[in-house]
Amino acid sequence: MCGIVGYIGPRRADRILLAGLKRLEYRGYDSAGVAVLGEGDRLDVVRRKGKLSALEDSLSDAGLTGRVGVGHTRWATHGRPSDENAHPHSTGRVAVVHNGILENYRELKARCQERGCTFSSETDTEVLAHLIDLELQGGKELVPAVLAALAEVQGSYAIGVVSAGTPDRIVVAKNASPLVLGLGQGENFAASDIPAILPYTKQMVFLDEGEVGVLTTDGVEIMTLAGEKVERSPKTIQWSVVQAEKAGYKHFMLKEIFEQPRAIEDTIRGRYDSGTGEILCDALGVDEAALREARSVILLACGTSYHAALYGQYMIERLVKIPARAELASEFRNRKPVVGPDDLVVAISQSGETLDTLEAVKVARAAGCRILSVANVLDSAIPRASDWVVYTHAGPEIGVASTKCYTAQLAALYLLGAAGAQVRGVTGVDVGALVREIVLLPGKMKSVLKRSAEFQDLAHRYAHHRDFLYLGRGLSFPTALEGALKLKEISYIHAEGYAAGEMKHGPIALIDRDMPVVVLMPEDEQWDKIKGNLEEVKAREGLVIALTSEGWGEDVRPICDEFITVPATHPELVPLLTVVPLQLIAYHIADLKGTDVDQPRNLAKTVTVE
Ligand code: F6R
Repeated sequence: MCGIVGYIGPRRADRILLAGLKRLEYRGYDSAGVAVLGEGDRLDVVRRKGKLSALEDSLSDAGLTGRVGVGHTRWATHGRPSDENAHPHSTGRVAVVHNGILENYRELKARCQERGCTFSSETDTEVLAHLIDLELQGGKELVPAVLAALAEVQGSYAIGVVSAGTPDRIVVAKNASPLVLGLGQGENFAASDIPAILPYTKQMVFLDEGEVGVLTTDGVEIMTLAGEKVERSPKTIQWSVVQAEKAGYKHFMLKEIFEQPRAIEDTIRGRYDSGTGEILCDALGVDEAALREARSVILLACGTSYHAALYGQYMIERLVKIPARAELASEFRNRKPVVGPDDLVVAISQSGETLDTLEAVKVARAAGCRILSVANVLDSAIPRASDWVVYTHAGPEIGVASTKCYTAQLAALYLLGAAGAQVRGVTGVDVGALVREIVLLPGKMKSVLKRSAEFQDLAHRYAHHRDFLYLGRGLSFPTALEGALKLKEISYIHAEGYAAGEMKHGPIALIDRDMPVVVLMPEDEQWDKIKGNLEEVKAREGLVIALTSEGWGEDVRPICDEFITVPATHPELVPLLTVVPLQLIAYHIADLKGTDVDQPRNLAKTVTVE
């Protein structure tokens, strides 16, 4: 949600800012703008409601040649999407871009108005531009003026500030919203996320909460909100630019679906001993004592990551054999959960920035829990709030609908379960066999991906349906939820995922000949029961799309309308394979319907508000 880019250096700032904003489009936005410092203390602001192409048109007319500026994509929270509410917000002397929410902006706005400021937008952000300007008018330099203004605001922010009187610097600050600084040669960058500036540098500095950065052409200085200098070494980002681009695929989502074998390989690489099949806990990022001592495990997440959490619950129960439960982070944080120091919390988040998950982590920590996170974005807020981090090495995920990060999360949770079994010496769990099977998984995934055309044909046959049901039992239940979520979020078709055992308690009433029902029925201990569900669907003339294991289920094939198979694997790994056809079916249906696959309406990649 909301994307920020900042640039200072020898190149035309408007071009770098626009290119960076395009790479942040996936975060979700409804308007965009840039502020560029020009010759003779000029501060030019160009803002447009709608897609970046509208801003691009206005920028080509504006001909801004300045070399310093900030840019923004806005996802409306306070004030409708409009040109006036788009960022940057400027007083004529100061321009501000902001990601986050200023909670006390009403009170601050009233104070600014009493001091003669006139507001031209409905946003919370504009108040910050006025506060900084008032400090400048009072005689402060830009950096002290920003510090003084920030001392008054409450809430979350990542901001970028430029001022006409100080054309040699950009001031940025971060509190609970993401911000990364990029170090170049004679030029420096700021952005909400790494891909925006990855083409220019791999040397990145991550700000901590409550820190301020000052960017000049010569370098970057970091300080606390109290103005105390902070020393911070840059980190080298391993992601390649190609990973953050479409590479010939029609959509990022399709590319990311096809990247899954590589994402799994990278996520498991170096985390097991290929000779002994032992999990290397240090390399995985987990603490052996924490695994040994945990009385129970609580897995917290939102959306697709919550489906991974459900899978993780099964992994902990089946492999570690201690109590485990997956919880929606938004529910957990707003209840009065009874948890304590004996509980290990596993927070799962691709972005590492989802507000509800972050807040749930804080609630758990306040109750004394130890926190392990599973995250994809290096040094993001949730890993920083954790004791230990298992990173998924899926690379940047740009499509709003999560695909490769989901299966990478499952791989990480599988390894976590195996690590728990190993550390606790759980009898009956063969960790070496678990490791050997996951090593084979990328090859099996590739063989499913090769059949994309088969799923495209199926999409043609079903794209006109208005409702879908997805049924699964046991380990296939999270996959049913995930398959339904993928379809609904990118194709806007109503789809529900259900635990198949619940079908008789309600959803069965929906079934008729217009209702395709995706039945997840791999070879496992639930086979007889799920077969019963299939027959109940057929008895009501529902259309059955069955998804099973190769060489299995031949007895039901004749009564299925569609029969999809995936290679046989270890039961615990089946969800990593069965989800792939579901991702492809959702993708192809959405593509046929012509929706905005990578940026579905109303959705943001990173949900940093409640
Ligand atoms: C759906 C999707 C979302 C995210 C959710 C949590 O495809 O991607 O449901 O899973 O917003 O995001 P993270 O994992 O970044 O915490």
